[in-house]
Amino acid sequence: MTSMTLNAGAPVPAQDKTNSATDLTDKSATESTSVKQQAVKTQEDIAETVGSPFCDEAKLRMRNVNVFYGEAQAIHDVSLDIGRNQVVAMIGPSGCGKSTFLRCLNRMNDTIEGCRVEGDLTLDGEAIYGPKVDVVPLRARVGMVFQKPNPFPKSIYDNVAYGPKIHGIASRRAELDEIVENSLRRAGLWDEVKDRLDKPGTGLSGGQQQRLCIARAIAVSPEVILMDEPCSALDPIATARIEELIHELRENYTIAIVTHSMQQAARVSQRTAYFHLGKLVEVNDTETVFTNPEHDLTEAYITGRFG
Ligand SMILES: Nc1ncnc2c1ncn2[C@@H]1O[C@H](COP(=O)(O)OP(=O)(O)OP(=O)(O)O)[C@@H](O)[C@H]1O
Ligand SMILES: [Mg+2]
Repeated sequence: MTSMTLNAGAPVPAQDKTNSATDLTDKSATESTSVKQQAVKTQEDIAETVGSPFCDEAKLRMRNVNVFYGEAQAIHDVSLDIGRNQVVAMIGPSGCGKSTFLRCLNRMNDTIEGCRVEGDLTLDGEAIYGPKVDVVPLRARVGMVFQKPNPFPKSIYDNVAYGPKIHGIASRRAELDEIVENSLRRAGLWDEVKDRLDKPGTGLSGGQQQRLCIARAIAVSPEVILMDEPCSALDPIATARIEELIHELRENYTIAIVTHSMQQAARVSQRTAYFHLGKLVEVNDTETVFTNPEHDLTEAYITGRFG
């Protein structure tokens, strides 16, 4: 399938220009697109999720999740399982709620004033929003990498060593040194920073800062890693390195990745979830989503008719 064969990390617009151009010459396709776009104005126009949102070996289980920012509802009744050692890609047009949904999984929405999350969310069967849950260890188990790199105002070394120190994973210098080197190597940054580990993390380039944040996330050996457009600031080489890392990490971890690159989703994930207007439209194995989508809206999106 074509989306699998494009170059790793090539900049990928949400819309496939080739398909869009084809559509212009195909009157019936253009007409059906405008009908679809008109038809999908409200959440009520989207019925239940199609495909296979559930799995047997779920690491994360989300049921009937609704998220509100004040009065405005951003996520509508979303139910989804994320399987153990699985990579799930979350795709959909800008503003459809991908980041909002991802942030529910490690309670990062708690940090946004006015944001309210409803529904049942569990990690290994334990309630993520349970009254006794301490978010600090939760976020060590469910780590996060953001679109915009956010290194601490500390040295490169301390950015990576901080988590293992506060979570009591390592305290002796030799152990910390090993974790720092190993994490930076896996994030593809070691060779570029090994001679300046004591320099500030904020002094690195944007792409290097993002790899530093990935090293920081994996340094605490999380069970789940949430990645929100982790490669949008990276060049093709760094992107390819991160995609390799995702493959490696999957052996031990569970990963949810938001991406605007359908090629990236196709390369790294086993399952793909398509969101639209705060609803989960379709979840299927990635190959099905990109070659034979069940829902018209998924098809319209992946063929670049809107985005
Ligand atoms: N902090 C916030 N306060 C109020 N509304 C918000 C906030 N963050 C997101 N929203 C709204 O929630 C909806 C979903 O936004 P979200 O950022 O989750 O979308 P997204 O799919 O991640 O988009 P993008 O692809 O552009 O990152 C949007 O309507 C957005 O305006
Ligand atoms: Mg987002």
